[in-house]
Amino acid sequence: MTNDELEQACLDVLINNNRGGYTIPTEGLYPHQWLWDSCFIAIGQRHADVERAQLELKSLLRGQWHNGMLPNMVLNNGLSGRAGSNFWQSNVSVDSPDDQRTSGISQPPMLAEAVVMVGEKLSKAERLLWYKEIYPALLANHKWHYAERDLLDDGLITLVHPWETGLDNTPPWMSMIHDNTVPHWVKLVKALSIDKVITKFRSDHKFVPAGERLTTLDGLSLYALQRQLRRQRYDITKIIKHSKLLIQDINYNVIFIRANQHLRTIAKAIDKTLPNYLTEKMKQTETSLELLWDPYSKNYYSRDANTGQLIKVPSIGTIVALYSGIINPDRAKIIIKKLYDNQQFFSKYPVASVPLNSSWFSPRRYWQGPTWINTNWLIVDGLKRSGFDKEATGIIEQSLELVKKSGCREYFSPKSGKGAGAHDFSWTAALTVDLLYQITDVKK
Ligand code: GLC
Repeated sequence: MTNDELEQACLDVLINNNRGGYTIPTEGLYPHQWLWDSCFIAIGQRHADVERAQLELKSLLRGQWHNGMLPNMVLNNGLSGRAGSNFWQSNVSVDSPDDQRTSGISQPPMLAEAVVMVGEKLSKAERLLWYKEIYPALLANHKWHYAERDLLDDGLITLVHPWETGLDNTPPWMSMIHDNTVPHWVKLVKALSIDKVITKFRSDHKFVPAGERLTTLDGLSLYALQRQLRRQRYDITKIIKHSKLLIQDINYNVIFIRANQHLRTIAKAIDKTLPNYLTEKMKQTETSLELLWDPYSKNYYSRDANTGQLIKVPSIGTIVALYSGIINPDRAKIIIKKLYDNQQFFSKYPVASVPLNSSWFSPRRYWQGPTWINTNWLIVDGLKRSGFDKEATGIIEQSLELVKKSGCREYFSPKSGKGAGAHDFSWTAALTVDLLYQITDVKK
């Protein structure tokens, strides 16, 4: 398959998943609009149709809450009663939008990055208009982060559900859940082995084999947590009083640091002055990233906001940290060494989402081992901005090879390169297009 053929196949996936104003991640399994998916999608779409990419991002704002939160899902109002639509009941919160049903939690703040990248494809005058159009929503979202989620007042953002990480069953979160929050009824389900029966009725298994999704027990624990948030009307003051699961997530905070940098760029371009407290907070977030570094194992970890302890379960977060752009050169070298260690992240088809030598590693199970194109994209960007161009090109080439071999799958075995999860997955398609353009630029 040539690069041109690959690009066309990817654009076809995006066209098939286009639902007018927005793009679904994949037919069947994910029929709504997701926050970071649409950001990644716009980053690819911009190469083919910049106006469509703008629309993709603007349509996310339909779901913005009155308090500034961008929900991880903007629900398809027409699918009432189906595909998880009724679980959320966002109208229990006074902050939810009036005419649009959404989820009640957020997802990694990739919007600022997508706005800037889409802006790169516009003329200067168009770009400034574009920035002006999005700026109020973006600013409100960054303010929300500090107003509602800076729980320890150290500038690091705390998440309340693993779905907010975008890496649903990532080991650090699952280990915290296993230790602290599995409800009694889920334990009973396990003791009586009823999970095997429930598994038979899981709708996601119509689309993806059981071994590639979360286990039923983990899935039930996540739904129990979601129900708890709904009962608390998604009100953060109520949530923090009761929740044993409040985590300063490494991936999310790294992405937030980059988003803050982009917000500053956007504000400057359109002559807006960010409030002083906000710029101070942004600096504090950067400084506080150090709180997530463990000097003994030389890893970045997520941190339990209830106890202040690092959750010392390694994951791809330690590599994605490069995307923040603020890692000093000595630290970056340590990270690169881990990336290229074939006991840790460097398998035949990198980058594994969990170190290969971790007891959690499972090559085809969702966020517990597989290679994902979006995390590769973040790592590539981080490598480039840390001065590791050759390494970035290597990861791009291996990612392209993976998609050529196995198609636009949701994720891939890092060992065999075999595709897993959903087929015709939008962010794999969109980011492959972007990586193709990056490789052409590198070679120019
Ligand atoms: C899964 C992924 C999440 C993604 C969503 C839609 O829940 O873990 O990151 O946004 O699917 O593709």
